[in-house]
Amino acid sequence: MKTDLFPLLAALTAQKFSGGIFLMAALVVVGLTTYLILTSRTREEKYAAKKRVYGLRARYFIGLSVILLVALVISLRLLPYERYQAKPDETVTVVAMQWTWKMAAGSSDQTPLEFTGSNEISLPAGKNIRFVVASADVNHNFAIYNSQGVLVAQTQAMPGYRNELAYRFPEKGDYMVICLEYCGGPHTIMTGKIHAL
Ligand code: CUA
Repeated sequence: MKTDLFPLLAALTAQKFSGGIFLMAALVVVGLTTYLILTSRTREEKYAAKKRVYGLRARYFIGLSVILLVALVISLRLLPYERYQAKPDETVTVVAMQWTWKMAAGSSDQTPLEFTGSNEISLPAGKNIRFVVASADVNHNFAIYNSQGVLVAQTQAMPGYRNELAYRFPEKGDYMVICLEYCGGPHTIMTGKIHAL
């Protein structure tokens, strides 16, 4: 995220940001409805009322278009693709299996079953990390949470596929790896740790 451009937006999580947008849109709808109720007269001529509603609708349409255009420009600049295309500083192989994680630095030609790794790994903060994520058995979900319990990155771990996830740890600290795809009884204990140094 471009923290230099949008410090206020960057401080919000995606969930809180979209929640705020939804709240604003809901307020606009409530305001508009209230305005229409307060300004409508029962005996007004049909033609005059129709003209007024059409005028209001046109202004609403233009206003909405401007808001959406601004939101489009802002959100396009927050897209992660540019970061994804940046050359990775480090590659990490991740294999999910019932019910643990195998992680190791570097890319691997081994099959997910052969691959050996640990469910705890240390990685540099502030560097572009490319996680190559596979599964040795069923579908799992490789999700990274920061120390505040906020989901910062995730991708599916699927048998037969190698999914890539680009992430740059913004600050040093301990991050938690949690499986977000139900994968059997002990699914909830399928955790790992990433120490960003
Ligand atoms: Cu692995 Cu849930």
